[in-house]
Amino acid sequence: MPATASITTPIYYVNDRPHIGHVYTTTLCDAWARAMRLRGRDTFFLTGTDEHGVKVEKSAAANGVSPQAWADRNAAEFEAVLRLFQQTNDDFIRTTQPRHERQVQLLVERLRAAGALTKGSFEGWYDEGEETYLTETKAKESDYRSPVSGRPLVRAKEENWYFRLSAFAPRLERLFAENPDFVRPAARRNEVLGRLREGLQDVPITRTNFSWGIPMPGDPGHVIYVWIDALLNYVTALGLGDGSAPDRTRYWPADYHVVGKEILWFHAVIWPAMLMALELPLPKCVYAHSFWISEGQKMSKSLGNFIDLPALQGHVDRYGLDALRWFLVTRGPLDATDTDFRVAAFHDAYMAELVNTVGNCSSRVSAMIAKTFEGRMPEDPQAGGEWPARCAAAVQAWESHIDRFELGQATSVAMGLLREVDGFINRTEPFKLAKDPSRRAEVGAILAQCAETVRIAGVLLEPFLPVKTPELAAAFGGVRGSWAERTRWGALKPGSGLVKVALYPRVETAPAA
Ligand code: MSP
Repeated sequence: MPATASITTPIYYVNDRPHIGHVYTTTLCDAWARAMRLRGRDTFFLTGTDEHGVKVEKSAAANGVSPQAWADRNAAEFEAVLRLFQQTNDDFIRTTQPRHERQVQLLVERLRAAGALTKGSFEGWYDEGEETYLTETKAKESDYRSPVSGRPLVRAKEENWYFRLSAFAPRLERLFAENPDFVRPAARRNEVLGRLREGLQDVPITRTNFSWGIPMPGDPGHVIYVWIDALLNYVTALGLGDGSAPDRTRYWPADYHVVGKEILWFHAVIWPAMLMALELPLPKCVYAHSFWISEGQKMSKSLGNFIDLPALQGHVDRYGLDALRWFLVTRGPLDATDTDFRVAAFHDAYMAELVNTVGNCSSRVSAMIAKTFEGRMPEDPQAGGEWPARCAAAVQAWESHIDRFELGQATSVAMGLLREVDGFINRTEPFKLAKDPSRRAEVGAILAQCAETVRIAGVLLEPFLPVKTPELAAAFGGVRGSWAERTRWGALKPGSGLVKVALYPRVETAPAA
């Protein structure tokens, strides 16, 4: 049984429409999952939708449909987007599915049995029309009237269930001290540590002012807070709440929870504490990326710079899906700073890397072999020269970057090999040597070394460029087999057929931003 690999995206809210943020996180996870499968790992990649809560209840009402109908409609859109961008998720969990709801109730029972929950009350100024509490300052400012309707605020008291987060402070401190990579990147970890030092408040985990949620077991009228419900998806999808999916328990703990920076606290602090209370192992790493902004500004519907589905689709129509995935992974905000999505930068990345490097290098090498060696892999009396060692080092570096979720660096390793091949061709000029029949063996050696290196680089690019790399692999001898076989120098045997390829067409000018 091969070693397992497992990765998750956040589950996306169904009160929003899919946009670049969702596609970005999912694409990062997809590339990693593809890389792990390519290496022969037994991989599980989970995504889904977060469907409960007052916001969903309200948007459904505003649209004149039931919350379930609203959730069904939007969840279907999120699923369609996954197919559109060729994501290879192994499951799609929806928090309104019975399998999830049933296990959330069991898991919350277990939290209560473990002594991790208490019932407490909260009192404050309540705006009945808006169904929200106002702080004392805000209430005073508006003269104890609703800032929206002007009706008097009422003094209300609510009893809620609380998760005793504060009780986990010492264990959380130890977790962070002993596992410097539990939260990455480091800048995000430092933010979490800073907040932890301010002390931990208990977290209300039930609500009584709306009903679109999972009922609190044994306490009718209380609905489980949407975040508690949502976080549990990572284990309910694997049946850990009731043992209903024994073939999946091996995928816990997850190697990576990939999230946006705005939801890090829930994943880095509340979730681990819940898992401690449940006596379940903790995920190995919570990786928080930053945000895409657009043409220099925060994305907003009113500014017209919102990168929604039609905008993304437009890029795919013009440049192809590989180009979009490539831009997201290689230029995206994987570290601690936000990234600007500029159409001009997208165009330049496509031209420089996919057209002029991946496309050009593979077409040059395959075309020369087609012309000079009738499309047959030439013999190489030099047995690869320096190239086998170079490729082996690249494969190893790629593997360790993938292990560390350094996706951009993994792509650079492959691009580095292709650039070296380009440089080698420019230096040795096989196209000139080929005119002299007495140097045929030498030309054969050069081209064989180039072809084998391009083939191996192509394998390393597969998780990132899933649309066109199969064509590259087929054109370069169609070598099949395990990861070790496909990345082994010499797998492309002399005499194997090579076909001229043209992978990425030029796109002359970038569209206006
Ligand atoms: N439902 C919660 C998550 C629960 S997980 C147990 C949620 N959903 S969400 O629909 O708002 O999705 C948030 C995620 O979308 C972010 O964490 C991030 O992955 C992604 N993004 C949303 N906007 C983004 C950008 N502008 N840029 C990059 N990613 C961002 O929060």
